[in-house]
Amino acid sequence: MNFIDLIKSRRTIRQFQQKSIPEDVLIDCVDAARLAPSAANLQPIEYILVTDKRQVDSIFPLLKWAAYIHPKGDPKPNRRPVAYLIVLINEKVGKKWSHHDAGAAIENLILAALSNGIGSCWLASVDRDSLRTLYQIPEDYTIDSVIALGYPAEDPVAEVSGDTIRYWQDADSRLHVPKRSIETILHINSF
Ligand SMILES: Cc1cc2nc3c(=O)[nH]c(=O)nc-3n(C[C@H](O)[C@H](O)[C@H](O)COP(=O)(O)O)c2cc1C
Repeated sequence: MNFIDLIKSRRTIRQFQQKSIPEDVLIDCVDAARLAPSAANLQPIEYILVTDKRQVDSIFPLLKWAAYIHPKGDPKPNRRPVAYLIVLINEKVGKKWSHHDAGAAIENLILAALSNGIGSCWLASVDRDSLRTLYQIPEDYTIDSVIALGYPAEDPVAEVSGDTIRYWQDADSRLHVPKRSIETILHINSF
Protein backbone atom coordinates (compact mmCIF):
# COMPACT_ATOMS: atom_id res chain seq x y z
CA MET A 1 0.00 0.00 0.00
CA ASN A 2 1.43 3.44 -0.82
CA PHE A 3 1.81 6.03 1.92
CA ILE A 4 -1.26 8.14 1.05
CA ASP A 5 -3.48 5.05 0.89
CA LEU A 6 -2.10 3.93 4.26
CA ILE A 7 -2.98 7.32 5.79
CA LYS A 8 -6.49 7.20 4.31
CA SER A 9 -7.03 3.61 5.44
CA ARG A 10 -6.34 4.48 9.09
CA ARG A 11 -9.40 4.23 11.32
CA THR A 12 -9.64 4.35 15.08
CA ILE A 13 -9.62 0.81 16.45
CA ARG A 14 -11.43 -0.10 19.67
CA GLN A 15 -11.47 -3.93 19.39
CA PHE A 16 -8.10 -5.62 19.63
CA GLN A 17 -6.61 -9.10 19.26
CA GLN A 18 -5.15 -10.41 22.50
CA LYS A 19 -1.68 -10.76 21.01
CA SER A 20 1.24 -8.85 22.48
CA ILE A 21 3.23 -6.37 20.42
CA PRO A 22 7.03 -6.73 20.40
CA GLU A 23 8.48 -3.97 22.58
CA ASP A 24 11.10 -2.98 20.00
CA VAL A 25 8.31 -2.29 17.49
CA LEU A 26 6.55 -0.03 20.01
CA ILE A 27 9.78 1.78 20.82
CA ASP A 28 10.38 2.35 17.11
CA CYS A 29 6.89 3.91 16.85
CA VAL A 30 7.75 6.26 19.72
CA ASP A 31 10.96 7.06 17.88
CA ALA A 32 8.86 8.15 14.90
CA ALA A 33 6.88 10.39 17.30
CA ARG A 34 10.13 11.77 18.71
CA LEU A 35 11.10 13.07 15.27
CA ALA A 36 7.84 14.99 14.63
CA PRO A 37 7.81 18.74 14.00
CA SER A 38 8.09 20.79 17.20
CA ALA A 39 7.52 24.53 17.71
CA ALA A 40 10.91 26.20 18.22
CA ASN A 41 12.18 22.60 18.31
CA LEU A 42 11.60 22.63 22.08
CA GLN A 43 10.33 19.00 22.14
CA PRO A 44 8.27 19.06 25.35
CA ILE A 45 6.54 15.71 24.69
CA GLU A 46 7.44 12.66 26.79
CA TYR A 47 5.88 9.21 27.00
CA ILE A 48 5.15 6.36 29.35
CA LEU A 49 4.95 3.09 27.46
CA VAL A 50 2.82 0.52 29.28
CA THR A 51 3.05 -3.13 28.23
CA ASP A 52 2.93 -4.88 31.62
CA LYS A 53 -0.36 -6.83 31.75
CA ARG A 54 -1.31 -5.77 35.29
CA GLN A 55 -0.68 -2.12 34.50
CA VAL A 56 -2.56 -2.41 31.21
CA ASP A 57 -5.52 -3.80 33.16
CA SER A 58 -5.43 -0.97 35.67
CA ILE A 59 -5.45 1.74 32.98
CA PHE A 60 -8.55 0.44 31.19
CA PRO A 61 -11.12 1.71 33.76
CA LEU A 62 -9.59 5.20 33.55
CA LEU A 63 -10.64 5.64 29.91
CA LYS A 64 -13.91 6.56 28.22
CA TRP A 65 -14.61 4.97 24.87
CA ALA A 66 -16.68 5.85 21.82
CA ALA A 67 -19.03 8.43 23.34
CA TYR A 68 -21.56 8.28 20.45
CA ILE A 69 -22.06 4.53 20.78
CA HIS A 70 -21.26 3.86 24.43
CA PRO A 71 -21.39 1.22 25.84
CA LYS A 72 -21.85 -0.92 22.71
CA GLY A 73 -18.72 0.51 21.11
CA ASP A 74 -16.48 -0.07 24.12
CA PRO A 75 -13.79 -2.75 23.77
CA LYS A 76 -15.31 -6.11 24.63
CA PRO A 77 -13.72 -7.95 27.61
CA ASN A 78 -11.66 -10.18 25.30
CA ARG A 79 -10.90 -7.31 22.92
CA ARG A 80 -9.13 -4.80 25.14
CA PRO A 81 -5.90 -2.97 24.22
CA VAL A 82 -2.64 -4.81 24.93
CA ALA A 83 -0.50 -1.71 25.40
CA TYR A 84 -0.84 2.00 26.09
CA LEU A 85 1.23 5.07 25.48
CA ILE A 86 0.62 7.89 27.95
CA VAL A 87 1.51 11.18 26.28
CA LEU A 88 2.91 13.84 28.60
CA ILE A 89 3.81 17.49 28.14
CA ASN A 90 6.81 18.61 30.13
CA GLU A 91 5.62 22.14 30.96
CA LYS A 92 9.12 23.15 32.06
CA VAL A 93 10.33 22.61 28.49
CA GLY A 94 7.51 24.19 26.50
CA LYS A 95 3.95 25.34 27.00
CA LYS A 96 2.63 27.67 24.30
CA TRP A 97 2.46 25.32 21.30
CA SER A 98 2.76 22.05 23.19
CA HIS A 99 -0.65 20.73 22.13
CA HIS A 100 0.30 21.20 18.49
CA ASP A 101 3.53 19.32 19.18
CA ALA A 102 1.56 16.54 20.85
CA GLY A 103 -0.80 16.27 17.89
CA ALA A 104 2.04 16.00 15.38
CA ALA A 105 3.91 13.46 17.49
CA ILE A 106 0.82 11.35 18.13
CA GLU A 107 -0.14 11.21 14.46
CA ASN A 108 3.42 10.09 13.63
CA LEU A 109 3.07 7.41 16.29
CA ILE A 110 -0.32 6.25 15.07
CA LEU A 111 0.83 6.01 11.45
CA ALA A 112 4.07 4.26 12.40
CA ALA A 113 2.01 1.77 14.38
CA LEU A 114 -0.35 1.28 11.46
CA SER A 115 2.58 0.59 9.13
CA ASN A 116 3.39 -2.30 11.50
CA GLY A 117 -0.20 -3.58 11.37
CA ILE A 118 -1.00 -2.14 14.82
CA GLY A 119 -4.33 -0.41 15.46
CA SER A 120 -4.82 2.45 17.88
CA CYS A 121 -7.32 4.67 19.62
CA TRP A 122 -6.30 8.16 20.68
CA LEU A 123 -8.13 8.98 23.93
CA ALA A 124 -8.52 12.40 25.49
CA SER A 125 -11.33 11.26 27.82
CA VAL A 126 -8.99 10.13 30.54
CA ASP A 127 -9.23 10.17 34.33
CA ARG A 128 -6.06 12.23 34.62
CA ASP A 129 -6.06 12.49 38.41
CA SER A 130 -6.09 8.71 38.83
CA LEU A 131 -3.49 8.23 36.11
CA ARG A 132 -1.25 10.85 37.73
CA THR A 133 -1.52 9.06 41.07
CA LEU A 134 -0.95 5.63 39.53
CA TYR A 135 2.32 6.69 37.88
CA GLN A 136 3.29 9.45 40.33
CA ILE A 137 3.51 11.90 37.45
CA PRO A 138 4.91 15.23 38.69
CA GLU A 139 2.60 18.28 38.64
CA ASP A 140 4.74 20.09 36.07
CA TYR A 141 3.77 17.46 33.51
CA THR A 142 0.38 17.71 31.77
CA ILE A 143 -1.21 14.42 30.82
CA ASP A 144 -2.17 15.15 27.22
CA SER A 145 -3.85 11.91 26.21
CA VAL A 146 -3.50 8.15 26.07
CA ILE A 147 -3.00 6.00 22.98
CA ALA A 148 -4.48 2.50 23.21
CA LEU A 149 -2.67 -0.05 21.04
CA GLY A 150 -3.12 -3.57 19.72
CA TYR A 151 -3.56 -5.59 16.56
CA PRO A 152 -7.03 -4.81 15.14
CA ALA A 153 -9.99 -7.09 15.66
CA GLU A 154 -12.39 -4.87 13.73
CA ASP A 155 -12.47 -3.20 10.34
CA PRO A 156 -14.17 0.20 10.54
CA VAL A 157 -15.12 2.00 7.36
CA ALA A 158 -15.07 5.72 6.50
CA GLU A 159 -17.91 7.16 4.45
CA VAL A 160 -18.91 10.62 3.26
CA SER A 161 -21.07 12.21 5.92
CA GLY A 162 -24.67 13.16 5.33
CA ASP A 163 -26.68 14.87 8.08
CA THR A 164 -24.43 13.72 10.89
CA ILE A 165 -20.80 13.19 11.78
CA ARG A 166 -21.71 10.72 14.53
CA TYR A 167 -20.05 7.38 13.99
CA TRP A 168 -22.38 4.39 14.19
CA GLN A 169 -22.46 0.59 14.19
CA ASP A 170 -24.42 -1.45 11.67
CA ALA A 171 -26.28 -4.72 12.40
CA ASP A 172 -22.98 -6.62 12.16
CA SER A 173 -21.36 -4.23 14.67
CA ARG A 174 -19.17 -2.76 11.95
CA LEU A 175 -18.19 0.81 12.78
CA HIS A 176 -19.01 3.48 10.18
CA VAL A 177 -17.18 6.80 10.43
CA PRO A 178 -18.73 9.73 8.51
CA LYS A 179 -16.19 12.19 7.15
CA ARG A 180 -17.00 15.61 5.68
CA SER A 181 -16.52 15.59 1.91
CA ILE A 182 -13.57 17.32 0.27
CA GLU A 183 -15.97 19.75 -1.44
CA THR A 184 -17.31 20.97 1.91
CA ILE A 185 -13.94 21.60 3.56
CA LEU A 186 -11.59 22.73 0.80
CA HIS A 187 -11.65 26.29 -0.52
CA ILE A 188 -9.45 26.78 -3.57
CA ASN A 189 -8.15 30.25 -4.36
CA SER A 190 -11.07 31.91 -2.53
CA PHE A 191 -13.24 31.21 0.51
C1 LIG B 1 -7.86 14.52 20.28
C2 LIG B 1 -8.69 13.26 20.15
C3 LIG B 1 -9.32 12.74 21.27
C4 LIG B 1 -10.05 11.56 21.18
N1 LIG B 1 -10.59 11.03 22.32
C5 LIG B 1 -11.25 9.85 22.25
C6 LIG B 1 -11.73 9.25 23.45
O1 LIG B 1 -11.56 9.77 24.56
N2 LIG B 1 -12.37 8.05 23.36
C7 LIG B 1 -12.54 7.42 22.14
O2 LIG B 1 -13.10 6.31 22.13
N3 LIG B 1 -12.09 7.97 20.99
C8 LIG B 1 -11.45 9.17 21.02
N4 LIG B 1 -10.94 9.72 19.87
C9 LIG B 1 -11.11 9.02 18.57
C10 LIG B 1 -12.18 9.72 17.72
O3 LIG B 1 -13.46 9.37 18.20
C11 LIG B 1 -12.00 9.30 16.24
O4 LIG B 1 -10.77 9.78 15.77
C12 LIG B 1 -13.15 9.84 15.37
O5 LIG B 1 -14.35 9.22 15.68
C13 LIG B 1 -12.85 9.65 13.88
O6 LIG B 1 -12.63 8.30 13.58
P1 LIG B 1 -11.30 7.84 12.83
O7 LIG B 1 -10.16 8.07 13.78
O8 LIG B 1 -11.51 6.41 12.52
O9 LIG B 1 -11.15 8.69 11.60
C14 LIG B 1 -10.21 10.91 19.92
C15 LIG B 1 -9.57 11.45 18.79
C16 LIG B 1 -8.82 12.61 18.89
C17 LIG B 1 -8.13 13.16 17.67
